[in-house]
Amino acid sequence: MKVGIIGFGALGSAIVEGLIKSSFPVEELLVSDADKLKLESAKRLGVKISENVELRGLADLIILAVKPKDFNRVAEDIVKVEDKKALVSFIAGLKIEKIRSKIECKNIFRGMPNISVKVCDSIIGLTASEEADLRVKEDVIKLLSRIGKVIEVEERLLDTLTSISGSGIAFASEIIRAFYEAAVLLGFDHKTAKEVSLKVFSGTTKLLEEEDFEQIFKRVTTPAGTTIEGIYVLEKAGVRGLIIEAIKAAAEKASKLSA
Ligand SMILES: NC(=O)c1ccc[n+]([C@@H]2O[C@H](COP(=O)([O-])OP(=O)(O)OC[C@H]3O[C@@H](n4cnc5c(N)ncnc54)[C@H](OP(=O)(O)O)[C@@H]3O)[C@@H](O)[C@H]2O)c1
Repeated sequence: MKVGIIGFGALGSAIVEGLIKSSFPVEELLVSDADKLKLESAKRLGVKISENVELRGLADLIILAVKPKDFNRVAEDIVKVEDKKALVSFIAGLKIEKIRSKIECKNIFRGMPNISVKVCDSIIGLTASEEADLRVKEDVIKLLSRIGKVIEVEERLLDTLTSISGSGIAFASEIIRAFYEAAVLLGFDHKTAKEVSLKVFSGTTKLLEEEDFEQIFKRVTTPAGTTIEGIYVLEKAGVRGLIIEAIKAAAEKASKLSA
């Protein structure tokens, strides 16, 4: 199956790198971008460089990874996609209905990944259009599962996922960074400080796959001990509330874009 990616920016390039890491054959990948410089780096990965119109003809699965403002221009190049092919849009806030009004296509999918696709560990929300063929949907899910965990969600939840997962990477990175800075402040060298911070988060994630939040809280906080002193500071500052506010603000912005 040939996969064509329109837009080789932050997301498009991460998808390509992830697919290559997942052993997807590089000769089956096509990329187009308005920026010729970006295409040079795609070329270095061994990917075939194309134009939007040519890519539409060659690819069995077309991924849209351009900014919302550039969709109309891309739609003018695509116009119609054959019935046996799939069109997957990762454009934030762009509804399936809008895509269908500009591009004639039976198998339209709208998805929301994050840039962890680069390390094949993303979460990818996916909504299929009502008309989409079941077999084509299976192919799309199989392909995307190479670079993340695919969850089928209602289209309205994709905007929410934009904030929790798409923007969430930046929020999570800021939180981990605070651990890193604290470790440097307390005397660790930069490399060890980063290593320690990352390990705390990956270990916590693995534990949380087996246990719930309350169990971990009880096991780590000795009454009158050190951990609860730190938790008290976090609670007083309303850190969890702040994080929820940040995700909510991003979700509100995403739904405004989508309106
Ligand atoms: N970045 C993320 O973490 C993330 C996560 C989830 C979803 N998304 C969604 O993914 C889409 C792309 O985001 P991004 O951050 O990757 O943006 P980006 O870095 O700006 O990449 C988009 C690329 O598309 C190119 N482009 C513009 N018009 C084009 C056209 N007509 N034909 C072909 N290529 C064209 C741009 O070139 P120029 O720079 O020359 O315009 C740019 O290289 C957005 O809709 C965003 O909502 C992004």
